[in-house]
Amino acid sequence: MIMNILDIILEKRYGRELSDEQIAFFVKGVTDGSIPDYQISPLLMAIVLNGMSEREMTTLTLEMAKSGEVNDLSYLEGVPVDKHSTGGVGDKITPLLLPLLATYGIQSVKLSGRGLGYTGGTVDKFESIEGFNCQIAKKDFPELIKKTGMVISGQTPDLAPADKILYSLRDVTGTVDSIPLIASSIMSKKIAGGAKALVLDVTCGFGAFMKEESRARELSAAMIRIGEGAGIKTRAVITEMDQPLGNRIGNTLEMQEVYDTLCGKGQKDVEAVVIELAFQLVRLAGKGMDLDDSELRVDLLNRLTDGRALEEYRKLISSQGGVIDDDGSPRYVDYPFDTMHVNAIEDGYITNVRANLIGRASCTLGAGRFEKRDKIDFGAGIILGAKKGDKVKRGDVLCALCKGEKADLPDDRLYAAYDLASKAFEISPNPPKESDPIIAVLPKKPFGVK
Ligand code: URA
Repeated sequence: MIMNILDIILEKRYGRELSDEQIAFFVKGVTDGSIPDYQISPLLMAIVLNGMSEREMTTLTLEMAKSGEVNDLSYLEGVPVDKHSTGGVGDKITPLLLPLLATYGIQSVKLSGRGLGYTGGTVDKFESIEGFNCQIAKKDFPELIKKTGMVISGQTPDLAPADKILYSLRDVTGTVDSIPLIASSIMSKKIAGGAKALVLDVTCGFGAFMKEESRARELSAAMIRIGEGAGIKTRAVITEMDQPLGNRIGNTLEMQEVYDTLCGKGQKDVEAVVIELAFQLVRLAGKGMDLDDSELRVDLLNRLTDGRALEEYRKLISSQGGVIDDDGSPRYVDYPFDTMHVNAIEDGYITNVRANLIGRASCTLGAGRFEKRDKIDFGAGIILGAKKGDKVKRGDVLCALCKGEKADLPDDRLYAAYDLASKAFEISPNPPKESDPIIAVLPKKPFGVK
């Protein structure tokens, strides 16, 4: 049967299921440019409004994964593992996770993105280290793996190109927030990336795509189904993203926090998230089998903080051209300069530090991009002086706003950032309910239970 895109748009507009052939036709037309944006966009909107069945979602994902090259990671020793975060503020997990996994001999190729909007990107964070090269050609991956067991690289243009086209259209057509579209976008890149075991960090709260736990669970379940269907052992960890993760937000600032964490001076929430994600991947990779679950968690924390992961981290940085100073810490392109403080205007307990506002404030200082062509100030960002549950007195520093030592920051940007950051802190006479950075791990069945 001859297909045409108008019929496909109408099918979805009337809430009917698309056939596998229709979805394949759509993805091919997106990739080769034969379907114009003005016809892609209404189909995306119809999917947002009418949803997709499990079968449609899986087909869409697999077709998107096949729209470019699928990586062959057979040169890795053991199970190729991967992780993905649905995005957050202060999320510095990847630079901690890879070296921690390396201490167990788990090798990983991590393809990461740049930040856009108020959530930071791992590539930008690594590029705050002087000399660090994130644009690694695929042919050079095996050599780096041989040296350190790790590669961190920007996504290559041939990785799920259909997603690149769809995502940039979704960004400007109000069609980002849709579980079938988010799940297929993320999972197409993971399948094309070549992973066989995957942990998804599904963030939930003010600073995340998923504001409610029920939506985070729905997205997790959809991605797990797609992953398992594609032969990838998949786990999802739902993590809290009401307030930023850790206490530093910005590129150099976050990499400094990574270094501190690896030196045993980290924040508890960062440690908790790294340990949980690493726990899932170590188990999926079949390592640490001589330890029971609680012993493995203790072992992970020890390796993270006693210098073993730090040694692997330094190897990773050097292997990709990054400069390590004589004191053993990375050298940064620019360093944060503390320019203004937000102070508490009353006594009380911090009941929230809204991650979305802190993320926007940090971007306004220059740490992120509002548009693709914006240049980043690597030294810009925010240091939190107080987090949820802390008791503060009037006048205490809630956060410090930083710009790079080498960068210019116009006054209007500094004041706009101050305004956003000061609105982020909620203070109450009563302490908030204690919360765990790990909300849930899915699927529920523990390891080893059939
Ligand atoms: N991250 C992605 O890669 N895709 C989405 O659609 C949302 C978050």
